[in-house]
Amino acid sequence: MNDILIAPSILSADFARLGEEVAAVDRAGADWIHLDVMDGHFVPNITFGPPIIKALRGSSQKVFDCHLMIEPADPFLEAFAAAGCDYITVHQEAGPHLDRSLQAIRGLGKKAGVSLNPSTPETTLEYVLDRLDLILLMSVNPGFGGQAFIPAIIEKTRRVKEMIGDRDIRIEIDGGVSPETAPALAAAGADVLVAGSAVFKGGSEETYRQNITAIRTA
Ligand code: DX5
Ligand code: ZN
Repeated sequence: MNDILIAPSILSADFARLGEEVAAVDRAGADWIHLDVMDGHFVPNITFGPPIIKALRGSSQKVFDCHLMIEPADPFLEAFAAAGCDYITVHQEAGPHLDRSLQAIRGLGKKAGVSLNPSTPETTLEYVLDRLDLILLMSVNPGFGGQAFIPAIIEKTRRVKEMIGDRDIRIEIDGGVSPETAPALAAAGADVLVAGSAVFKGGSEETYRQNITAIRTA
């Protein structure tokens, strides 16, 4: 089976100590750092933007995986690239010109991702596959950590895997990932698992290490 990457979402970290939290999950075995950017408009919650990401860049050398839940996204792509994001993922539902957004991200020298809400069919990506480095499938409705995993996303993961064929595109799953849900996702073709509450529970580097290992070995 494919080697799975674990991307802790700092949405569930202690926001008063974000830099230390990023360094702690890095040392605890995170492969990527997942950054959930929310605007209170595309999703019913607000988090952080480029200045905070830039400030966190010094706390880890790992891949910064930036999940933009903002509408519009295009006017801010340059700022997120300059802040140090390695992957920049926009939502299919957040703008009318997905192809343009993806070209802009690659034009900034970054890896381009698209995220799909649980109800958005994967067929909407058919004509942009050659512009994509990552497909992020939401397995909860975006906006909050700690929600229940939506089981239909296992079949969706299988379909996306089939659709991308031998293209070099990673499949990332976000929402409700835990040692219980990880095995079926890995079997369906997931490459990257985002986990917020399942990684940050316990509140210390030692528990983060145990939590990451539990997902990886599940
Ligand atoms: C939800 C975010 C997720 C979230 C995952 O809108 O995109 O990254 O933090 O949190 P858990 O793992 O707790 O479902
Ligand atoms: Zn996310």
